[in-house]
Amino acid sequence: MTTLYQQHVDVLIHRYEDAMAHFGLDAIVLASGEKSYYFQDDHTHPFHAYSGAQQWLPFTLGAETYVVLQTGKQPTLVWPVRDDFWHAPNPVPGGDWQKNWSIIPAKKNDAWFSNLPKHTAWLGPQPITAAVVCDGLKAYVDFAKAVKTDFEIQAMRRASDRAVAGHVAAKDAFLAGMSELEIHLAFLKASQQTAAQEPYPGIVGLNEHSAVLHYEHKSIEQMENSRTLLIDAGASEHGYASDITRTFVRHDDDFSALVNDLDTMEQKLCRSAMSGVSFRDLHQDTLVGIATLLHEHKICALSVEEQLTKRIPQVFFPHGLGHLLGLQVHDVGGHQIDSAGTLSKPDESAPFLRLTRTLEKNMVVTIEPGLYFIPMLIEKMQAEMVNHGCDMARIQHFMPYGGIRIEDNVVVKDDLPKNLTRTAFSH
Ligand code: GLY
Ligand code: MN
Ligand code: MN
Repeated sequence: MTTLYQQHVDVLIHRYEDAMAHFGLDAIVLASGEKSYYFQDDHTHPFHAYSGAQQWLPFTLGAETYVVLQTGKQPTLVWPVRDDFWHAPNPVPGGDWQKNWSIIPAKKNDAWFSNLPKHTAWLGPQPITAAVVCDGLKAYVDFAKAVKTDFEIQAMRRASDRAVAGHVAAKDAFLAGMSELEIHLAFLKASQQTAAQEPYPGIVGLNEHSAVLHYEHKSIEQMENSRTLLIDAGASEHGYASDITRTFVRHDDDFSALVNDLDTMEQKLCRSAMSGVSFRDLHQDTLVGIATLLHEHKICALSVEEQLTKRIPQVFFPHGLGHLLGLQVHDVGGHQIDSAGTLSKPDESAPFLRLTRTLEKNMVVTIEPGLYFIPMLIEKMQAEMVNHGCDMARIQHFMPYGGIRIEDNVVVKDDLPKNLTRTAFSH
């Protein structure tokens, strides 16, 4: 029986052999990358392998590891030989995956490198001068990455499960009056990772901090009566990310009513993420949904149509609905509409939309509407628009709560999508 991993490698071989035929190449090298150092220091930055190399292997790749592809040959893994006593030994991981590979323990400039065929293209950091320049190869392979194999979806399901265990622990820590730092530590422990292993630095904001989209600090101040927790944090399974946001509240009040209604709207959007749907249209539906909430919750008296004309929803929801998810949290190719690299940029009413493609089966996307009370954007609206229709007293009332974002990871299908996040929360 072929495993999901073997099927995955077969799909990749097929993709890359097509690329070699298309560009007239004899070989492609995918380089994981090299470690980089802090300025004038002997400590390195946390290492993340180039996703094109990582995609081939069922464990987290380290630096100076190379995948060598040649049509008709088994792929070769060039594994870094480490001969120092400062670091832990670096054996090749055991397992069935090895059946698909020729494995060469070697260094960068050893024989494997000098024996590469003449028409070899190089993808990854530190390109070598010996490789042919192959414009278009990167776009060609990036385009295909959006549609995930079953092996990749399985990895992302596991990444979701682990992150959700962390979110549940974070909620408990919030309700117990913990600080942002303590909540983050509770998240890390329950999701079984160090901060350096997170797919992106976890965002943990209490109260007004939840209105800072990429809030980076983790305050050590405990807040017994904190009102809101926004936690946007994921986990990684051999490079594949989950990217999940929840907004938890302590009180049952008109802010929690807003959270509940945004949650209902988010679930409806998730159910709409089917193949053939334009993500631009889904983003537009979200703006309509936000305008409706602003009206129903008496934040803005203008009709939905008037709000859309005046771009009021964007004051409270200034980012995009979501993005492709994979080996990179904001996965490659979100604006690419063909394998030649043609770009479809978002229009000026949605400048931060990271995904403009039409959805296809087995793409994995995030759906992450938000509604925030961001002082800078509200002041700008007041300064620039006379008839904004917003109830400023009501906005002032909501300001101390910060904001709301709810983010799920969804596998697109021809009919109802699979929601990896909701499934994990329901275990
Ligand atoms: N965590 C970053 C994002 O949601 O896109
Ligand atoms: Mn996120
Ligand atoms: Mn996201």
